[in-house]
Amino acid sequence: MVEGWEWDDTLFAGSAGYYRRGRLPYAPGLAETLAGALRLDGRGRLLDVGCGPGILALDLAHLFHEVVGVDPDAGMIAEAGRQAAAAGVAGKTRWVRARAEELSADLGSFTVATFGQSFHWMDRDLVAATVRDLLRPGGALVHVSDLRTEPRGVDDLPHPPAPQAAIDDLVRDYLGPVRRAGRGVLSRGTPDGEATILARAGYLGPERLVVPGGQALERDVDDVVAGVYSMSFSAPHLFGPRREKFEADLRHLLHEASPTARFSARQPATEIFLWHTPPPLGRRDALPVEPA
Ligand SMILES: C[S@@+](CC[C@H](N)C(=O)[O-])C[C@H]1O[C@@H](n2cnc3c(N)ncnc32)[C@H](O)[C@@H]1O
Repeated sequence: MVEGWEWDDTLFAGSAGYYRRGRLPYAPGLAETLAGALRLDGRGRLLDVGCGPGILALDLAHLFHEVVGVDPDAGMIAEAGRQAAAAGVAGKTRWVRARAEELSADLGSFTVATFGQSFHWMDRDLVAATVRDLLRPGGALVHVSDLRTEPRGVDDLPHPPAPQAAIDDLVRDYLGPVRRAGRGVLSRGTPDGEATILARAGYLGPERLVVPGGQALERDVDDVVAGVYSMSFSAPHLFGPRREKFEADLRHLLHEASPTARFSARQPATEIFLWHTPPPLGRRDALPVEPA
């Protein structure tokens, strides 16, 4: 649980349509890295928890027989369905609107469960236990996020970086000094320390993998605006009737920061933690994953 904050269904309200465009992608090679580490071969079932618009689920869909994405945000689930159809994988994907805390055995059992920058929003002890029971013996829980500890300078790239500090100031001018989250505020941010929670829930591990980033990326003004709206703390609903004015101010600020209206960024590396459920008794060689 996030201390002093209660989840509500406006957390990412209005963000879904901006998400894929606005967020920097996971590092290229993520799917191949996971396929190698977990010996994924097109069999098995993937559960993507807090799937958003299906970023991870769709990137990994070719490695599984079936994929189930779960997210409580109606816009995210609708967007994931649209993107699955566009990618030609609607037949093997299913999108369920629910909180992770509500997952039930009706969904069947899974070989792998992924959490892409979503676990911190959940009642983590409850969800860790629920997902453990949905995973087959020898299955894997995979925690995926941008690696935040490496420098990502753009001095040698053609365009300036997006003016993040000025964007943050503008958001604060409109929404106040304390980080917003749904109908509440997060005075101390979201929690880390998931290793303690997953170990306590009986998972084995973790094994840490880093998929390197560093590639030069180019972003236009619409990409940066989409990035702002993709974040829970500056999601469209928070601006209410002042949204148009906010967006005009944001676009003005961006054009001032880059006369070409282009920005450079560096692809973040992706950090993966693999956790396993114990293999069945007598099958200690069965790690990491037992296919369907
Ligand atoms: C930062 S987005 C990540 C989306 C996607 N997994 C990715 O890697 O790009 C976090 C997602 O977690 C979802 N989320 C928040 N609280 C949740 C909960 N209690 N159960 C399931 N999903 C939740 C949000 O609706 C949002 O779509």
